[in-house]
Amino acid sequence: MENTSVPLVGVLISGRGSNLQALIEAGKAGRLGGARIRVVVSNRRDAQGLQRAEAVGIETVVIPHQAYPSREEFDRALVGELRRRAVTIVCLAGFMRLVTAVFCDAFPGAILNIHPSLLPAFPGPDAQRQALAHGVKVSGATVHLVTPELDAGPIVCQAAVAVREEDTVESLAERILAVEHQLYPEAVRRVVEGFTLEGRRVRFGSGAPGSEGA
Ligand code: GRF
Repeated sequence: MENTSVPLVGVLISGRGSNLQALIEAGKAGRLGGARIRVVVSNRRDAQGLQRAEAVGIETVVIPHQAYPSREEFDRALVGELRRRAVTIVCLAGFMRLVTAVFCDAFPGAILNIHPSLLPAFPGPDAQRQALAHGVKVSGATVHLVTPELDAGPIVCQAAVAVREEDTVESLAERILAVEHQLYPEAVRRVVEGFTLEGRRVRFGSGAPGSEGA
């Protein structure tokens, strides 16, 4: 039987899983607002993050997207696996698939994604390269609520990273990644503790729906 008083998190990955690792460590240290990672789902069997989960005894599930005739069918399979495990919060952590309304509607206001730029600047792939090419002096990381439009949902948390004269895509990405690892657990904790949505604005604080008893 699941302990339903603890918010259960499903983490979706496709690769390296360093943000997953940060979430695992934050969970162990009690920094996820009491939430527990229940399952890690990957669309790729070779995702390195699967080993990170297995190493600490977190259940893993592989759902190869190629096995489904459409994005919607794939999303239905994802939703099924997450619901079966009573997951209420979903974290996309380097999950390289666009999700559809099928997925978003299944977990309203409860799907998070992390992106390596200060959104709405530089959505989509290669955000660090885009930032350097544009010549910005500050970039960073964003955790946002997921909507079917890529990297466009309401912003939960952001952190800035200064661009240095000598930066390459790799060096900038590395400093942003270090910030991501702090930001994602903090965002999960804040979402678990409750927020309200006013238009696009995510607002935290006591009195927010979901914050009762937090
Ligand atoms: C991170 O830079 C994240 O912002 C982006 O994909 C990368 C995933 O890295 N969405 P990892 O798999 O968490 O190491």
